[in-house]
Amino acid sequence: MSHQNVIVLDFGGQYNQLIARRVRECGVYCEVKPYTTPLADLKAMNPIGIIFTGGPGSVYREDAPLVDPEIFTWGVPILGICYGCQLMAHFLGGQVTEAQDDSAREYGKTHTMYDTGCRLFRGLPAEGISWMSHGDYMAKVPEGFALTAHSEACPNVAIADETRGFYGVQFHPEVNHTENGVKMIRNFLYEVCGAVGDWNMEDYKHTAIEAVRKKVGDGKVLLALSGGVDSSVVAALLAEAIGRQLTCVFVDHGLMRYQEGDEVEAAFARWDINFVRVNAEARFLLKLAGVSEPEHKRKIIGEEFIRVFEEEAKKVGRVDFLAQGTIYPDVIESGSGKAGAAVIKSHHNVGGLPDYVDFKEIIEPLRLLFKDEVRQLGRELGLPEYLVSRQPFPGPGLAIRIIGDVTKEKADILRLADHIFREEVAKAGEDRNLSQYFAVLTNTRSVGVMGDGRTYDYTLALRAVTTADFMTADWARIPYEVLDRISNRIVNEVQGINRIVYDITSKPPATIEWE
Ligand code: XMP
Repeated sequence: MSHQNVIVLDFGGQYNQLIARRVRECGVYCEVKPYTTPLADLKAMNPIGIIFTGGPGSVYREDAPLVDPEIFTWGVPILGICYGCQLMAHFLGGQVTEAQDDSAREYGKTHTMYDTGCRLFRGLPAEGISWMSHGDYMAKVPEGFALTAHSEACPNVAIADETRGFYGVQFHPEVNHTENGVKMIRNFLYEVCGAVGDWNMEDYKHTAIEAVRKKVGDGKVLLALSGGVDSSVVAALLAEAIGRQLTCVFVDHGLMRYQEGDEVEAAFARWDINFVRVNAEARFLLKLAGVSEPEHKRKIIGEEFIRVFEEEAKKVGRVDFLAQGTIYPDVIESGSGKAGAAVIKSHHNVGGLPDYVDFKEIIEPLRLLFKDEVRQLGRELGLPEYLVSRQPFPGPGLAIRIIGDVTKEKADILRLADHIFREEVAKAGEDRNLSQYFAVLTNTRSVGVMGDGRTYDYTLALRAVTTADFMTADWARIPYEVLDRISNRIVNEVQGINRIVYDITSKPPATIEWE
């Protein structure tokens, strides 16, 4: 099935992925392209509309990111957001200047009045909060454009040339702070661009299965399955598409959560594929014995993982494709050549293993999907909810949640405590409010009293955070009654723990994991 397409032209703004997600949430497919993409390539995509994103540039500076002016005579509707709006004004005869006084420079929530006669604001309230973040100001509105929104400080908050289908807004409709922002995007898509809403996961599932079959032919595919959302959905998609031509290697390093290895295996039992589970607990624990330094643990686990996978890959022999769970945010990030941030922790992820596997090509069937869409596709493919809505779990697993050296005894203690924590959080319905939550076995022992006896056991830390992007996070306000139940159950049911603490630090300055 083919579907309509919208191009999100990326000028380096920080919410660009969010814009694309919003468009897709409206049932319209879109792709993010760098602003440098040649016009001919954009035309070849045959879009029904284009959205210019925000960005840090200033149109009047020499180094401003610009577009081929021909884009404005092509006949495709354009929505310019923030910098994108200024860019449109700049090219079409308006004037953009640095805001001279603070009143025209707007940041944050701004009370805004809209002209609801404009198609962009049709059917929406005539006033509301919009979220601004701009230091430049549209001093002169381009010819043919009407002013369609204003705030107290700024007369030129939105402009429209309805005949040509050009719209510009100084605020960010894609962020949640803008009331009815998504409805404005929806209006642009449906009222202006003529979208029909033909992007949905049920159809995409069939398209993706067909695409895999076409690409793979009668070839063999190898996949390292970690049990995380992305690799699980890749596995399910490939299983559905090519059955026994797929070999999944699931390395159970013994540092998974309670019964997790069995759950992953069970989820794939319904497909006729070559499912290889390697129970490598003993091997990993041996390598980790006596090691307490977090980065050292990560390195050992990463290397050992590769070794185990390599052994299995050798048994399979030459394959045609190595499958990977790359998803769209990774593609966008690498495409716009963003500089990497400082390495605080070296994340070991399953994937990126092409060096030692004998294969012809990489296949990345999720590379156009956002995380929410990956989950949705997983559901369509019949994966159980515990796999598709699973919270992130680090590649090195419990090894980085056991402070100090890692032993089987400690892993078993932590596994059970963590299981109780998660069970009680879910029972209380709190899991919906949390982005990530888990237990950490600290290396501290303290004195306690149980019955009439003295104990000298481990202190367990509970960690729960809310976050949008895992770059920053806030500690979660789990109700005291729920924490109380969790604490009672854990000290009663888990031998070896006699004290529980709750981590009340945000990120930064702490990180989410303890190691
Ligand atoms: P931090 O602790 O850096 O964690 O705030 C941010 C997110 O990354 C996950 N994390 C990891 N994931 N391998 C992974 O695959 C790792 O070594 C690793 N360390 C942290 C963490 O669980 C959180 O979601």
